[in-house]
This record gives sequence, C-alpha cells and structure tokens, in this order.
Amino acid sequence: MFGKKKCRIDEECEISLPQDDYSDKCKAERARDMLIARAWYQITTPELTGSERRTEFPLTTVPWLNQAETSAKFYYAVEPFLSRHITLLQAINAVFRGQVKSQLIQAFADFKVDNVNDFKAIMKAVNEAVLTLKIPHFFDNPSLHPDTFTDLFYNDAWMQDKVFSQSLLANDLPWSVKKVTFSDTVGINFNDLLSMLNMEGGVDFDEEISSCYGGGEDITLEQAVEKGVLFAVYFSQLNDLKNDPDYHAGQTGTATLDENTSPIALLCKTEDKELKIAAIQLDYLPTSIVLTPDTSLEWMKAKATINMAKTHVQTGYYHLGNCHILATIFCTTFRRHFGTKHPLYEVLKHHCEGSTSMITLSIKNLLSEGNFIHAGFGIGVNGLRDITQQSWDDRYFGQLDHPKLMEQTGIKKGEFESYPYLEDGELLWEEYSKFTTELVDTFYYWDNDVKNDEELQSYAKELSPEGIINFTGFPSKIEDKKQLAEVLRSILWYNIIHSAVNYGTPPPFLPNTPPKLYTDEENTSFLSLGNSHHVVSVSVIANQLASVRANRLMAYYDKVQDKKLRKVVRKSYTRLHGCIQKTLEERNAERKKKQKSGAQYLEPKWLTNSIHV
Ligand SMILES: [Fe+2]
Repeated sequence: MFGKKKCRIDEECEISLPQDDYSDKCKAERARDMLIARAWYQITTPELTGSERRTEFPLTTVPWLNQAETSAKFYYAVEPFLSRHITLLQAINAVFRGQVKSQLIQAFADFKVDNVNDFKAIMKAVNEAVLTLKIPHFFDNPSLHPDTFTDLFYNDAWMQDKVFSQSLLANDLPWSVKKVTFSDTVGINFNDLLSMLNMEGGVDFDEEISSCYGGGEDITLEQAVEKGVLFAVYFSQLNDLKNDPDYHAGQTGTATLDENTSPIALLCKTEDKELKIAAIQLDYLPTSIVLTPDTSLEWMKAKATINMAKTHVQTGYYHLGNCHILATIFCTTFRRHFGTKHPLYEVLKHHCEGSTSMITLSIKNLLSEGNFIHAGFGIGVNGLRDITQQSWDDRYFGQLDHPKLMEQTGIKKGEFESYPYLEDGELLWEEYSKFTTELVDTFYYWDNDVKNDEELQSYAKELSPEGIINFTGFPSKIEDKKQLAEVLRSILWYNIIHSAVNYGTPPPFLPNTPPKLYTDEENTSFLSLGNSHHVVSVSVIANQLASVRANRLMAYYDKVQDKKLRKVVRKSYTRLHGCIQKTLEERNAERKKKQKSGAQYLEPKWLTNSIHV
C-alpha cells in the first residue's frame, strides 16, 4: 500500500508472436523496444553521404551499421549482452597479440625462416603459447590435442601429394575441388577449362590424366570427363588480380614477391576412389607454365601456389565477404524488426552474439595500409578488398546451404573414399533442419501465423531486393512455416561455413598454406615468405583466429527464460553434443588411423554458436 492506494503489479509480457499480444501494455513495450533498437541499428544506403554517413565501413555499396567506430566501441563495451564478447577479445588481444607476440618476435629475431625447420620451430612456439593462457574453453584448437588430431606437419606428411589432395576435401575451404562436367551449372565446365589450359606448353594432359587415373587404359581429358574422373581447383575471382606494392620490399634480401596468379590444379579420381593431383598450371591463361608431379622445389611451390590461391579466396570471398559481411547483415537487421519478446529475437540474439560488433570494430583496421592484410598478403589490402566486394556482388540467399554447395561441386556422397566436409556437414545440416522446424512448430501453429507475423514480414521485406538491404534471393514475403524454417536454417548455417573457413586448418603452417610467396635469385628455396618478424606476426594472428571461441553451439539453452523455447534449444544441444559429437569423433578417429585429415572443426564441441572472430 502506498498511502491509501494499492500498488498494482502488472503481468510480465511473455515471449509471443506480435499478433498474439493482446495487452496494450505489451504492445506498447514492443513498440518501445523497436524505437530503442532502431536508434542504434541504423543502416547505410549508397545514397547516404557527408555527415549523414557516420560509419567508416570501407565497402560503400554494402548496407552497414551507420555508426562511427568510436561510438561503436563505447556502445559494445557497455551493452550488457554483447560486452562479454568484446571483453574476451580485448583480453586475448592484450596478452596473445601483445605480450606473447613481442616475446616471440624477439626470440626468433635471428631466424632466417627460409627452411621448413625454422617454420616448424615458430609454429611449435606459437602453439605452446596458446596453451599458456590456460583458458581452453575460450582459447584452444583441435591441433593441440595430438591424441585425436592428425598431425601432418611435424612428420612432414604435408609434403606428399596424396596429403595435399586429401586436404582439399577436409580442411579450410573444403568445397574448392569441383568435378569437370559438360554442365554449365554443376562443377567446372569442360569447354571453359579447355579454353584456359596450355595445350601447346609441352605437357600432354591426356597422358597425365591417364597415368593419374590408373585405370589401365589411355584416356583423353574428354573421356576422363565422360567417366567422371576429372576434377579441378580454379578460382575465377583471382583472374588478373594484381599485387599491392610489397609491404616487406627491401627487407627480403634477394627474394622478390611473386606476381599473383589464378592457378588451376587438375586432379583425378583413382580406381580406389582417392583424389590425386595430376598437374598444376600456374595461371589461367593458355600460355601459362604447367608442372607435373615430381620431387622438385618447383613442384612443391606449385602446390603452395594452389593453397595460396585458396587462402586468398577463402579469406576475402568466403570468410570476410560471405561470413563477416553478408551473414552479419542478418544480425544487424533483426534488431530493427523483432521486439525483444518475439521468439525469433531470443534465438537470433544468441546466434548473432558478437557478429556485428566484431567486424564493425575491426574492418577498418583490417583493410588499412600497414596492417595484417597488407603485411601478410601479396595481393594486399586492395586485392583482398576486390575479392570481398565480389562476394557482395555475387550474393544469393541460400547459395551456401549444404546440399546446394555440395551440388555445385558436382561431387556426390560416396564418390570419394572420404570427403569429411560433405559427410559431416550432412549430419549437421540435418540437425539444423530439425532445430529450425521444431522452433517454427513451437511458436507458429498454422501457416497463417507466419503470414500474419508483422515483425517477421517486415524483417523479410527489408532484406529482400524490395528493401534497403537488397539481398538477392531473399523472399520479400514468407508464406508458410516450411519456408520460414528453411530461411532460418540458411541464416544460421553461415556459422558452419565460418567454421570451415576460419577454424578449418589449425595450425596455420605457412610453407603449406602461404599468404604470399617469394622467389630468390638462385631459386633455391620456395620458403622465403619474408623475415621472421613477418612470419611470427602472421602465425600469431592466424593462430588466434583459429583458437578463439566465445560460445558453443546451442549452449545458450539455460539462458533462455521461455520454457517452450528452452526445451527446443536444449533438445538440439543434447543431440549435437551427444549422438552427433560421438559419431563425428568416431569418424575422425577412423581418418586418423588412415593418416588422413579429419574435420574436428565440425565436431559440436568445437562449433561456436555465432560468427564472432
Ligand atoms: Fe572470422
């Protein structure tokens, strides 16, 4: 009692669809939520210029959070839910990228790092440094667990051709191999490939592919396509892409930076269903040099050139472009449309933890002269920005869905003796399907409930080509429960794509996957990637990216207050971390027995719940 008046305690607003909110008080709360969120989550348009454009986001055609970096730093440091992630990153940055890196640079100052052993010593020291932080839940990676991880580096297995080929199907960017076909939509078109191959350069491709295939008969390239045994790695994004001026010019002795190229690897499927490398052409033009397998340094360097091309496309097109820019748009935008009591708000909040803040606060620095990309990549800031821009220009919603991405490679399940990403990704895709279907079934009883959900429909419209985000292929109206479950699945799936491109190859061993390559005067070594300072810096940053995990997939169930929603998330958590974890662990153990790379990064215990590093 307050004097003679009763103090009435209102009912708390429940998690519900907006159309089910009959109380005026709850409707007013939803409207207020939206106003507060929209005050911060403002989106740029290409027309926005001058003082109205507050963000320093470097890709101006991409719609982005319209806030200055200084404001964003403050906002994310104090925002109650998101500050946890920022605090973690800052702490790891201070210790690992600060103190540890300085100590390692000093320790390796006299190393020339022009031989494999110097690289191994640096990799070992960086790995050991990860463990010294002693926060394994947040800072660890599968390669630091030799009982389960197939170590292909210390024993030099990585130098073997069979390991090179198998890694293409297991490790980072594991959809880079494509079947050569007569189709225009599946795999790599044979005629397109022929138009790029140097048929007059002294290498007989028919002979090479016959020997690679080993079917006991001489076959032509065309017959190899007919038999379904010809495969290739080629990235059109790299055609004609030039290097930036070398950051390390003048510091590398007689070694000069190699020109960037767009190489092509030709591979075959052997009789025993293994992928095998047959030849590498160093650029996509039909006058380019072609090398075939032998034990020379030139051949090792040709394989490194393919891995370098993969690293460029992985980093720019898929990692920065698709994961940190395209997928982050879904995270920035949901706050503008869903009230905090909408069931999808509660889900997306956790699956977006750290996504917008991480890249908003780091991209300007990342794409600045004198920083990591400039120092680490031959194509530098401008080259990487070009590739990243291509991913935005090519955007198509759902293009990275597991079945679609695998279909585009032309490779079917069972075609190879082992294709870890295809096989393990399939189990995870099934779980994502189950989770989003159960989620939708729990809160939407009829298809009309989807149609009548104004917050959802407003979200869809803004993302679609009818809205300011203009994401090609995103539906402007979501018609029914099935479609909603599919849309949610595609949005959440980007997290798995991120796992494959960010966590796919721990540890980063630079002679195998170099970000830049040099040639010295006598061409005696392909390993001179710059000085030890550069190698340590790149190793520390790459290892940090591969090791930070602020959350785990579906582990937020105990933070969800709504009982129905908590049950759905908990069921998925239990399936993932129980049966699926066990199955994938067993598969990786089998792969290790056969001395093959596993895909530990897809085991639920290593999967994050959001894209945040
Ligand atoms: Fe990332």
